[in-house]
This record gives sequence, C-alpha cells and structure tokens, in this order.
Amino acid sequence: MNLLSANNISHTFEYKLFSDVTLELNSGETIAIIGMSGSGKSTLLHILSTLLTPDKGNISLFGQEIRDMSKKDLSEIKRHDLGLIFQSHYLFNGFSAYENLEVAEILSQNKIDEILLKRLNINGVIQNKVTKLSGGQQQRVSIARVLTKQPKIIFADEPTGNLDKKTAGEVMQLFFEYCKEKERGMILVTHDENLAHKCQKVYKLEDKKLQQVQ
Ligand SMILES: Nc1ncnc2c1ncn2[C@@H]1O[C@H](COP(=O)(O)OP(=O)(O)O)[C@@H](O)[C@H]1O
Ligand SMILES: [Mg+2]
Repeated sequence: MNLLSANNISHTFEYKLFSDVTLELNSGETIAIIGMSGSGKSTLLHILSTLLTPDKGNISLFGQEIRDMSKKDLSEIKRHDLGLIFQSHYLFNGFSAYENLEVAEILSQNKIDEILLKRLNINGVIQNKVTKLSGGQQQRVSIARVLTKQPKIIFADEPTGNLDKKTAGEVMQLFFEYCKEKERGMILVTHDENLAHKCQKVYKLEDKKLQQVQ
C-alpha cells in the first residue's frame, strides 16, 4: 500500500534548494535521505511531513493529495498517522518524561510500552523533568513518544545524532523492527552512510536533485 507519494517537489529559500523531487514510500518500507549539510534534507523532510508547503509539486498521503484535504482531515492525519522525530525534540519541558509519554498515550489510545522504555534505557529516568535529562535521554524520550503513538509513517531527522554509536544502533533497530512488524514506513534523514544503507532504499540530495543510490 502506498503511504506517501511526492511528485515534482521544488523549493527555494534564499536560493533554490531542489527541484523535481519525486519519491514514494510504501507499507513496511524504510527510506534514507543523505546529502551534504545545507543541501536541504531537513527542508525536504518538513515538506514531506506536511509542516512546510513546497513552492511546487504535490504530496499525497495514503492516496489522497494534501492540498485536497480539509484542515480537519489533515490535522487528524497529523495527530494519528504521522510521527515526527526532529532535531529539536518538542517535548513539553515543564513535564516529566513520563507525562510527555502520557500525552501520546491519551491522544493515540495506545498503552505506554514498558519494554520499549527498557530497551531505550530510559525506564530509570522516566519520572524526571525533561529539563533534567541529557540531550541523548531527551532524544530517546521523544523516540519513545513517537513509537507509543504508533504512526503509519515515521519522519526522522538525525534521530540518533545525540547518541553514542552502540545506543544509536539499538535505537535504529527499534525503528526497523517497528516498520517491519507493523508494516509501517519510515523516512530517515542522516549523514551516516552506514546507517542509511540499512534502509531498503537510499536517496541522495545533491546538485539540487534527489537521486536513488540504493
Ligand atoms: N525557514 C528557512 N528560511 C530560510 N532559509 C532556510 C530555512 N530553513 C532552511 N533554510 C536554508 O536552507 C538551506 C538548507 O537547509 P536544511 O534543509 O536545513 O539543510 P540540511 O538539513 O541538508 O543541512 C540552508 O542554507 C538553510 O539556511
Ligand atoms: Mg538538517
């Protein structure tokens, strides 16, 4: 089943970042986007995840074009079906880590998975205020929050950037298992080529074009 399809996307800020970007994500599939710093990877991920409207081109989610959706339908899809893990974590700072997960639990009506917290090694710090956690712990809380939501598509921008190599590997394993077992999709932005090549498809953003390299 097609989860996302992007057709001929172009975007310009001060200069043209990319044009004619075309990409498809199907159920159970993981896609990596690599490219040099400044090539526009984060911008492209913002566009694909509906946070930013591109200058040109269109995006369909679950078979329906975004621009044909009502505001209400799009916000329902964002709430239930899209999981965003970006460099700034957007956790609620006044809350404990656990309370942040409870928000996802309530919105999605899925139970917080204690095994997941153990695997992410945050079970011991889960009652602490977010501001008391290290960057790496915050990153893992935001990953737990997204996985609690059980979205149909995960959009992840350098999700393991604050983690050591071993922890990063374990965290990525969780994403891959999730996509495989639940037939969900992931679009991962990373500068780590080794990690990228664990995805089924790899695209490179270079010279303002997106090209499949695996
Ligand atoms: N909201 C914005 N307004 C203006 N320029 C932006 C904005 N977001 C990103 N840029 C610029 O677009 C370029 C690509 O940024 P980005 O998408 O973050 O690249 P990458 O993630 O590949 O490093 C950079 O030059 C950045 O300064
Ligand atoms: Mg970036």
